Amino acid sequence: MQKEVIGNATLYLGDCRDILPTLPPADAVITDPPYGITYQSNAGVGAGTRPISNDGTRVSLRLYKAVIPLLHGAPTLWCTRWDAWPDVWELFAASMKVNGLLVWDKGQPGMGDLKHWGPSYELIASCGPVRTRGSRDCSVLRYNTVPSQNRNHPTEKPEALFRYLVQKVTDEGGVVLDPFMGSGTTGVAAVSEGRKFIGCEVDQAYFDIACRRIEDAQRQAQMFG
Ligand SMILES: C[S@@+](CC[C@H](N)C(=O)[O-])C[C@H]1O[C@@H](n2cnc3c(N)ncnc32)[C@H](O)[C@@H]1O
Repeated sequence: MQKEVIGNATLYLGDCRDILPTLPPADAVITDPPYGITYQSNAGVGAGTRPISNDGTRVSLRLYKAVIPLLHGAPTLWCTRWDAWPDVWELFAASMKVNGLLVWDKGQPGMGDLKHWGPSYELIASCGPVRTRGSRDCSVLRYNTVPSQNRNHPTEKPEALFRYLVQKVTDEGGVVLDPFMGSGTTGVAAVSEGRKFIGCEVDQAYFDIACRRIEDAQRQAQMFG
């Protein structure tokens, strides 16, 4: 296991199942785990086109079963899809309150059956003692996807969406945890919003990208924050 401390962020290279038991509870978990769909992008470049670790259906399910109890009941926003959601619901409901779903409206359809509606949304499950700050917002969130040519990761999430989630469910200075950080979007969002961040990633290439992106975000926050 490798550990990098970058300002307010602590990043671990390794399997989150080994790392989470060593960590104190976070103020919120915001995460985008492998969905169990054996996703491999044809778009993007370099690291962006490789299959994602632990992304087979049964493997992902086993991973979720191991990881959810290690979140210590912290407020959790967990990205998912319509076909993974029944398992996610069942696993969370065994130990935490499931508050509902947010719908991320991506504005344009993704891959799938060309003779069916193109899937233009993903889901974010809200579980545990999630409390929102500020206005009472609608649960459909409209943020454009990251253009494929700009992606650091095949399933990279928009920074603006994750900044919104971070500031909505944590206070200034709070600790955000992402056990599946990929290219580090949650970390970028957390440090940009003045939060502390702890992230895990099992793939060395994505870990290195996350370190670089979070370092840049921290520098920007210091310069302009
Ligand atoms: C859906 S991607 C996250 C993408 C991220 N939201 C972003 O914007 O870049 C899930 C990540 O979890 C990582 N992963 C899979 N199994 C893991 C494990 N056991 N421990 C830590 N990371 C893992 C994969 O390598 C992948 O990069």
